[in-house]
Amino acid sequence: MIVRKRITQNQMSIIEKVLLSLVITALTVGAAHADGDRDRGAILADTCLGCHGIPGQRNGYPSYRVPKLGGQHAEYLVLGMQGYKNLGRSHPTMRAQAATLSEQDMHDLAAYFVSHSDMEVGSETSSAQIARGKAKAAVCAACHGDTGLSQTPSWPILAGQHGDYLVESMAQYRNGQRDDPVMAGQLINLSDADIEDLAAFYSAQSGLFTATYDD
Ligand code: HEC
Ligand code: HEC
Repeated sequence: MIVRKRITQNQMSIIEKVLLSLVITALTVGAAHADGDRDRGAILADTCLGCHGIPGQRNGYPSYRVPKLGGQHAEYLVLGMQGYKNLGRSHPTMRAQAATLSEQDMHDLAAYFVSHSDMEVGSETSSAQIARGKAKAAVCAACHGDTGLSQTPSWPILAGQHGDYLVESMAQYRNGQRDDPVMAGQLINLSDADIEDLAAFYSAQSGLFTATYDD
C-alpha cells in the first residue's frame, strides 16, 4: 500500500513538472511574440505616420478618417496588419503597406504605437444620438467594454476612434470587405442608423488618439 502510494506521488510530481514546463514554455513563447522592439518600430513607422500620424488625415475614396492607432492594443494592431497581409481585409493601400511586413516588423510597429500613453479625453458631448448609441452598445460590451475600452488584447478598443472610420469598418464587416465571421454576425441585424448611433457613442468616449511624429 505504502509503496504504491509513493509511486503515485512520484508519478504526480513528474506530471506536475511536465505541466509546469509546458506552461513556462507557453508563457515564454507568448512573451517573445508580444514584445516588439519599440525603437526598431519607430524607424519602420516613418511611412505609416504619413497617414496615421496626421490628425484628421483622410482616406481618399471613400472619404473617412484614417484610424487612430495610439492607445490601441498591440495584439489587435498585429491582427489588423495580418488581416491586410493575408487578404482578410481588402483596403488596397493598407494591403500594399502590409505586404512586405514580416511578423517581427508587425510586432515592432505595434510596440511603437502602443508606447504612447496619453489617453485622449472624450468630447463628453451628450446628444440624443450618443444616448441611442449607448443603449445599442449594451450587446457589444461583453467584448468591447462598457465604453469601448476592451479588456482583451485581441479585441479592438473603440473608445475615441474616429466616428466615420467606425462606420466604415462596420460597413466592411457587413459587406465582406473584411472577412471576420464574429463581427459580421454581430452586425447582421443592425440598420445603417444603428451603426451611425453606435459610432457616435464610441467616438465620444475617452480613449484612442493619433500617435504623431512628435510623440
Ligand atoms: C496611405 C495612408 C496609409 C499609410 C501609409 C498606412 N496606413 Fe494603415 N490605414 C490606412 C487606412 C485608410 C486604414 C483603414 C483601412 C480600412 O478601411 O480597413 C488603415 C488601417 C490600419 C490598421 C487597422 C486599424 C484598425 O483599427 O483596425 C493598422 C493596424 C494600420 N493601418 C497600420 C499601419 C502601419 C503599421 C503602417 C505602416 C507600415 C500603415 N498603417 C500605413 C492608411 C494608411
Ligand atoms: C464576441 C466578441 C465581439 C462582440 C460581441 C462585438 N465585437 Fe466588434 N470586434 C470583435 C473582434 C474580434 C474584432 C476584430 C475583428 C478583425 O480582426 O477585423 C472587432 C472589431 C470591431 C470593429 C472594428 C474596429 C477597428 O478598429 O477597425 C468595430 C467598429 C466593432 N467591432 C464594433 C462592434 C459593435 C458596434 C458591436 C456590437 C453591436 C460589436 N463590435 C460586438 C469582437 C466583438
